[in-house]
Parts: sequence; structure tokens; C-alpha cells
Amino acid sequence: MKLDINGKEHEVSDENPHRVLLWVLRDELGLVGTRFSCGAGICGACTVHVDGVATRACISPISLLAGKRIRTVEGLSRPGPDGKPRLHPVQRAFLQVQAPQCGWCMSGQMMTAAALLEKNPSPSPEQVVEAMSHNYCRCGTYPRIKKAVLAAASQLAEETEP
Ligand code: FES
Ligand code: FES
Repeated sequence: MKLDINGKEHEVSDENPHRVLLWVLRDELGLVGTRFSCGAGICGACTVHVDGVATRACISPISLLAGKRIRTVEGLSRPGPDGKPRLHPVQRAFLQVQAPQCGWCMSGQMMTAAALLEKNPSPSPEQVVEAMSHNYCRCGTYPRIKKAVLAAASQLAEETEP
């Protein structure tokens, strides 16, 4: 079967249609930015976008994903004004704020944050906390994550100013 991942079509084995996206990404395609942690849809470490919606890759069977647009952290950067890939504002803000500690949860955190900002480009601090509350960080970097998401929203606002 074919899967549209980061704007490219990938032919993947559908021998086992119950196979979940996480293992196709990591084991078959080498896209290891998407992380495995709980494996039960709880922690958010494996979050990707499916048609723009933050989705747990560890519980998403590939049989449900044909024809959908999948985006992983590897596909989060976007072309800048010079056409070269430029880090997404969320990636830049997480770096500026130095949000990661061990870093394991961070791609999932950034994908959730990017999906939030696509839906709501200027969230309140409370909306950020609510949106990010389903992504767990064992290192407890929550205050820095909140700061980074709000910083990304400010950057986005600056970039879209006329
Ligand atoms: S690894 Fe998927 S939600 Fe935890
Ligand atoms: S930075 Fe270590 S789990 Fe979040």
C-alpha cells in the first residue's frame, strides 16, 4: 500500500494491516524522530499529524491511513523565503528556550504544539497548557514547554504581520 508521508509517497508492506504507523516509520522508513514510549496511546511521544490533526502513531493501524497526509517531525520544517528548508517556528522556539532535557518526548511535544498553532495561532497560556496536557514529559520540562509554545506563537504572529 502507499502512504503519503511528509509530502512523498512511500510504498509500504500491508501484509499485516494491523501494523501500526509507528513501526512503519521507525523500522521500515528510518524516520526515527517519532518516538516509542508507552505504546498505548497515552503519553504522546509518538505524535504525528494525520491530515493536520495530532495523532498517536503507536495506536494507528496503517490500514486506516491510505490516502491521508501524514507528517512527522522530519517534515515539520518549511521552505523559507529563499526556498531552502527552514525550521518550523515551534522547532526554533523549543531550541531558543532550551526546552528539552533528555529530549525523548520532544518530537511529540513539538508536533502537538504545531497542530495547536495551526488551529489556533494565538492561544492563551491556559489554552497552551490544556492542549499540551496530554503529552507527558518524564523530565518535567512543562514550564519550558509552555514558554516555548507561547514564544512560537509570537514568532508566527511576527512572521505573518503585513
Ligand atoms: S508511545 Fe504513543 S502515546 Fe505513548
Ligand atoms: S525531555 Fe525527557 S521525557 Fe521530556
